[in-house]
Amino acid sequence: MSEDVCDLTNTAASHLQTALFYEIKDMPRGTTASVLFAGDPTMVLRSLNLQLRNNLRWDLSRTMAGNWHAVIHRAEDVPPGDVLDALRRDHKRLDAMFSSIIHLTDRGQLVEARSVMQAFVAGLQCHLAVEHDLLGRAIRTVPNASGVDPTAAMVSEHGEIMTQSAMIAAAFEEPDADTSSISPLLAILAGYLSKHEQREELSLFPIWSSAIGHAPEVARADLFARAMAMLEPAQPPFPD
Ligand SMILES: [Fe+2]
Ligand SMILES: [Fe+2]
Repeated sequence: MSEDVCDLTNTAASHLQTALFYEIKDMPRGTTASVLFAGDPTMVLRSLNLQLRNNLRWDLSRTMAGNWHAVIHRAEDVPPGDVLDALRRDHKRLDAMFSSIIHLTDRGQLVEARSVMQAFVAGLQCHLAVEHDLLGRAIRTVPNASGVDPTAAMVSEHGEIMTQSAMIAAAFEEPDADTSSISPLLAILAGYLSKHEQREELSLFPIWSSAIGHAPEVARADLFARAMAMLEPAQPPFPD
């Protein structure tokens, strides 16, 4: 092992996740963290990955001494592995764009904010099309215990998101547009969008993931290729 390996073989199991978090929390893009564990770290890595919104990928191997060696990457450094991975990443990308619109608007930089808003709407349309036109139509869902069909709920929320986005885009075009006229609209959509993404990732994505997992390999590959082609036009790099 090189001296760059972080040795957690003597760390108590109850402290492993925290120790690992501090090891990788400032890991720059394009780099990896190399960590040694006494036991299988899969559960710890999965738990930390949940905490970090699926931002990690890793490769595991065993050492000659019987320890476990994890090479950990940031998720952005490796291509998306499937449709759901691509959509989760796109949620983060859209969130980062929307945060930038809020900050620019709050600082009164409305020309720059308007430009990012246009890119955000274009990206949002591609994202919703994958969920709505591709996955929503390919995979049927059934109402949950509360009688709510998650696909129908998603479609309804997409309509609301596009309505609110159109209102904000129009507000930027008003001759007397200023921070006080646009910021409240942004705050409402920020909350709605965040809840929508959380609901999707918790309720709909597991259903889609299961259905896709049971599909033949050729169908899975076709779906992935079509989804990536639909997302591709909206994928210019956006600083995080
Ligand atoms: Fe959605
Ligand atoms: Fe989504």
